[in-house]
Amino acid sequence: MRVEQLTCAIGAELHDVNLGDAVRDDGLFNDIYAALLKFKVLFLRDQDFEKLSRKDHMAFAMRMGQLETHPMVPSHPEAPGLVQIYKTPEKPADRYENSWHCDTTFREAPPMGAVLRCIECPPVGGDTMWANMVLAYEKLPEYVKQEIEGLIASHSFNASFAAAMPQEKRLAMKTQYPDAEHPVVRTHPETGEKVLFVNAFATHFVNYHSEGRVRFGQDYNKGGSDLMQYLISQAYNPEYQVRWRWRPYSVAIWDNRCTQHYAVMDYPPCHRKMERAAIVGDKPFR
Ligand code: SIN
Repeated sequence: MRVEQLTCAIGAELHDVNLGDAVRDDGLFNDIYAALLKFKVLFLRDQDFEKLSRKDHMAFAMRMGQLETHPMVPSHPEAPGLVQIYKTPEKPADRYENSWHCDTTFREAPPMGAVLRCIECPPVGGDTMWANMVLAYEKLPEYVKQEIEGLIASHSFNASFAAAMPQEKRLAMKTQYPDAEHPVVRTHPETGEKVLFVNAFATHFVNYHSEGRVRFGQDYNKGGSDLMQYLISQAYNPEYQVRWRWRPYSVAIWDNRCTQHYAVMDYPPCHRKMERAAIVGDKPFR
């Protein structure tokens, strides 16, 4: 396997690999997993159904843990757990996807990662971008690091994609997925790296109030909201990013604990079909 680093910040492309082989080959799987921890997102080209059947797509992901069923997006009928992110010209509302996010951080235990394959895409447009949130934390000014030490954020599906859903559906979902609280700076459970862990699902800090920070309620809005927006906007820095241009049967594998991603919605109404196996993670800790 040849590993080609794609940017100084994040991402590598793997060459001369059939991902299906990594389902059965421990050595190959371990090499890929080590590369994932190092580069945070990996890319492969030409992983068609011969090289990687849908069953193998799921089996590869399941080497890293259990598959997550998505609360809003349906799975492939013959492959439960393989979520179909299909955009069609007929359903433009479903195209609402463009927001920097970590997958489902409104859950107590968000996914540790995901394996996404492109089945069909526009000839140009519809790229996906990833940002390295370890680097985003590392580069924060020292006084900001001190200010956010120990802060906890509330995450809600209402804050992002679900905002387009009818109110009854959102209220019904809320009982199943109440808001989750996560540390603003989490420790990666395997690498020990510190990660800036707020994204489009984060609504507010739950423990911002302290004598030094809040004199009146208005200070909370000014201080807390501005700080939250500043932290969320760190993922927008090109210095922390990689941008991937899809072709049919390209694959991306990412570590959802330390990255964010953004599916760029710059293409005209057309088919863009992606299939994603997300892997259940553990509860983030400081
Ligand atoms: C996702 O947000 O997990 C999907 C990204 C994409 O469709 O490119």
